[in-house]
Amino acid sequence: MRTSVIYLFVFCLIAFSSCNQESNKVKLTNEDKTIEKKIDDLLSKMTLEEKIGQMNQYTGNGAATGPIKAREKDIEDLKKGYVGSMLNVIGAENTREMQKLVMENSRMKIPLIFGLDVIHGYKTIFPIPLGEAASWDLDAIEQSARIAAIEASAAGIHWTFAPMVDIARDPRWGRIMEGAGEDPYYGSLVAKARIHGFQGKSLKDDGSIVACAKHFAAYGCAEAGRDYNTVDISNRVLHEIYLRPFKAALEAGVGTFMNSFNEIDGTPATGNSYLVQETLKGEWGFRGFVVSDWNSIGEMVNHGIAKDKGEAAMIAANAGNDMDMETSAYRDSLVSLVKAGKVKEITIDKAVRRVLRIKFQLGLFDDPYKYCHPEKEKSQLLSPEHIKAAREGARKSIVLLKNENNTLPLKIDVRTIAVIGPLADSKIDMIGGWSAQGEGKDAVTLLEGIKTAVSSTTNILYTKGCDIWGDSSNTFKVAISLAKQADVVVMAIGESGTMSGEARSRANINIPGKQEDLVREILKTGKPVVIVLMNGRPLTINWLAGNVPAILESWFLGSQAGNAIADVLFGKYNPSGKLPVTFPYAVGQIPIYYNHKNTGRPKVDNINPYCSKYTDIPNEPLFPFGFGLSYTTFEYSTLKLSTNQMKMKDSLTVSLTVKNTGQSDGEEVVQLYIRDLVGSVTRPVKELKGFRKVMIKTGESKDISFTLKSSDLAFYTKDMSFKAESGDFKVFVGTNSDDCKEASFSLTE
Ligand code: BGC
Repeated sequence: MRTSVIYLFVFCLIAFSSCNQESNKVKLTNEDKTIEKKIDDLLSKMTLEEKIGQMNQYTGNGAATGPIKAREKDIEDLKKGYVGSMLNVIGAENTREMQKLVMENSRMKIPLIFGLDVIHGYKTIFPIPLGEAASWDLDAIEQSARIAAIEASAAGIHWTFAPMVDIARDPRWGRIMEGAGEDPYYGSLVAKARIHGFQGKSLKDDGSIVACAKHFAAYGCAEAGRDYNTVDISNRVLHEIYLRPFKAALEAGVGTFMNSFNEIDGTPATGNSYLVQETLKGEWGFRGFVVSDWNSIGEMVNHGIAKDKGEAAMIAANAGNDMDMETSAYRDSLVSLVKAGKVKEITIDKAVRRVLRIKFQLGLFDDPYKYCHPEKEKSQLLSPEHIKAAREGARKSIVLLKNENNTLPLKIDVRTIAVIGPLADSKIDMIGGWSAQGEGKDAVTLLEGIKTAVSSTTNILYTKGCDIWGDSSNTFKVAISLAKQADVVVMAIGESGTMSGEARSRANINIPGKQEDLVREILKTGKPVVIVLMNGRPLTINWLAGNVPAILESWFLGSQAGNAIADVLFGKYNPSGKLPVTFPYAVGQIPIYYNHKNTGRPKVDNINPYCSKYTDIPNEPLFPFGFGLSYTTFEYSTLKLSTNQMKMKDSLTVSLTVKNTGQSDGEEVVQLYIRDLVGSVTRPVKELKGFRKVMIKTGESKDISFTLKSSDLAFYTKDMSFKAESGDFKVFVGTNSDDCKEASFSLTE
């Protein structure tokens, strides 16, 4: 009797804690409760095979990032209702056909959810995410995600594998192009903006698609910047830096998470129960579902954590991975694993509940053919309104890195302009990597943009000059002769659009091939030279920065790249972008980021050799985080603090005036950083805590103020509790992380 009472007690405790794990963080609405009842009803009718089917995701024929499976078996599975989701099925007609297979043949008639990597636009392509983050314009970022969702949904897509919210401090890592850069605070805001754009106010709204925060977690911290490589970081760094944008994604209501290829502390993320069960679903209370990365369940065999795919399936399912992307390990092994008691059926039920929940939230049970309307697809893609937004978003993303002697802006009636470089007229490169259904033919190149922008009397000369790669300088001669005939030379150089992205790590992040040599030769003509950089990552451009009068960082700006760059070149738009990532001086400095620690021997001068510094290069980056020039100049006043003694429960106002002291109207990104001088654990030398993007007319001043609360000063203290500690702080406000006014205050209980 006593034992059975104990058993009952333990059972209740487990049942309570497992359902509590899902529900106690979130207050369910009546609609949520109705959905849960419908899921209960479905689950009670489904066979084990049908349930496991909802945990399978297969690829269609579209853009794949791995080997595509034979289709025959997949079609049989679709008909049986053994597939929960398809990815890479392109076009409303195809998604409709495939949905029909399920709806007309399967017993339970549970609609598929169609996923695709809609990363920076679907057909109308916006700047690569890293570039877009340089705009510091959260509304524009949200709008571009919204447009991407509208176009993708019109083409039958319900779910995007975006945003990538991985913090990246290593530009060798090719996927740095897909995120918002190095800062957890800014990265969190960008993550939220993108999720709000994709998902809209409600997943039920027309044009909303489910977002996916990826890659959970710390994928951007791959050792030596080599994609898929090992990650080994402290729990504190994991939580404080890498998990913060994921937490923000959750707060923004993201529907799904994708785990990552890497291991952390000896456990691959796909089988990492601490990350998924304990942290994401437990502590954070996430109610959506978690999808593996492409074949990442199978790859646990290579990691050496599972002896075969079956064991990998067991580890992944027990760790809380709800859907298997393309390993087919769940399809092949979960039934027998459940029968053998190695995976509990309740684990399957919980995973399926999460998948079904998102399908209900999307309204797929009301209309399985939601978004599968080919007529709508035609009317939405590349609409004039979308193109306009793409141009506006693109010009906001351009960063002016150098502008000696006001080389820029150029006059539209310049007599002769030479446009030179392998990227000057390359349509496909304009849209960059991960560009969904974007096509080069729809993109405007720099040459085309310049042609449209200049006056009818301007003479435009164009030649490639050299290739992006390769060591031939045979075509330099033509370029030099064109430069000699011109009043100004605009050179588009950098990486090709596909040199960054997945599996595109580089050990040398210089400008490839002979491009810099070409610039050297062109400079010898004595003509003013403007460099337009195109690249998906920070590059080491010391020589350029030291020798060329003007440099524009244009990333890969998307469908409207050429028009947007021309807007900036000719002063129709005053550049306002700021780097969301540090540009190193040399590869040897990597990883490099502004919010580093001070060390016990910080460099204070060039005399003492026994301090933390290099003997051959500076410690400082070439361009710091937050850097970006304008055609005008801004003057910052000293900072005023509402108090120098802030109480934990109170707030502090930091105010200043920024004056436009130059000749043109312009926008400035005013950035606020703090430093916690003494903590129970060491703190970074600077941490971004706020920014304002403000338009200031020439000659005018704007008063700017920021409010700091103790929650803004919180961090993971010695015992890993997230809170602020009393003590002394510095506050900095400036035009970039390295050029700030500062003041001090203390925080008291
Ligand atoms: C990438 C993911 C992507 C998936 C599907 C993987 O290789 O890591 O980011 O969403 O492929 O295309």
